[in-house]
Amino acid sequence: MTNNNMIFIANWKMNGNFSDISKAKILNKLIKQRKFKRNKVVYCPPYTLIKSFSDNFKKTNISVGAQNCHHQSEYGAKTGSINCKLIKSSGAKYVIIGHSESRIEGETDNLLNKKIQSAIKENLNIIFCIGETLNQKKKKQTSKILKNQLFNGLRNIKNFKNISIAYEPVWAIGTGIVPKKSELERNMKLIKTYLKKLKRNNSIKVLYGGSVKPDNASELSKIKEIEGFLIGGASLNAKKFVDIIKKSSI
Ligand code: PGA
Repeated sequence: MTNNNMIFIANWKMNGNFSDISKAKILNKLIKQRKFKRNKVVYCPPYTLIKSFSDNFKKTNISVGAQNCHHQSEYGAKTGSINCKLIKSSGAKYVIIGHSESRIEGETDNLLNKKIQSAIKENLNIIFCIGETLNQKKKKQTSKILKNQLFNGLRNIKNFKNISIAYEPVWAIGTGIVPKKSELERNMKLIKTYLKKLKRNNSIKVLYGGSVKPDNASELSKIKEIEGFLIGGASLNAKKFVDIIKKSSI
């Protein structure tokens, strides 16, 4: 099935230097082609590159995002931290919140909820990541974990306009393993059901992340519940990233 309305987020994690911007630019050409125009592409480089990426992609339909943020809305004495105000001022329009590689550093649902509130204040688009670990999956706790992460992370949030969810099973990240189609369909549907409970009119996009590569993008994009991808390793290579977009749009 052709899907020209997907969102592709490149999560560069702790990688990238200034010369890599030119590699990322090859995407521009692709995005300008009519067929791909309705897809959204967002680069999330490290904080150090946000401003350069934003300047470089100003006149394109590629957006830039941060990979995390400090929860405090206002400026303040927080050495080494970057809040949403600073992210916004460097030109980013998106922020990833709740990635499992950040949760593992001690981020609680309560803290993530504060980060979401502060991103909403700055009118940033939020990619809120949720997903179970292998151990939780083995103990058949996936649905409980997804529900808790969603309900706690989104507690008291009234404005869902700028929020997307990325379902990222922790065991699929960077491992080359992707969930079976039936498992993925079931979990994506579960997430949508929980989102409906949080908000009646459900227009929140749900993305998938975890070992998305050119050779599985086409299969994964046939799962109708998947409305975009969060791509780590493969997004560092512009050709692979372009291939993922092309294969998901055929
Ligand atoms: P991966 O990472 O594509 O390298 O598995 C995905 C992610 O961590 O967002």
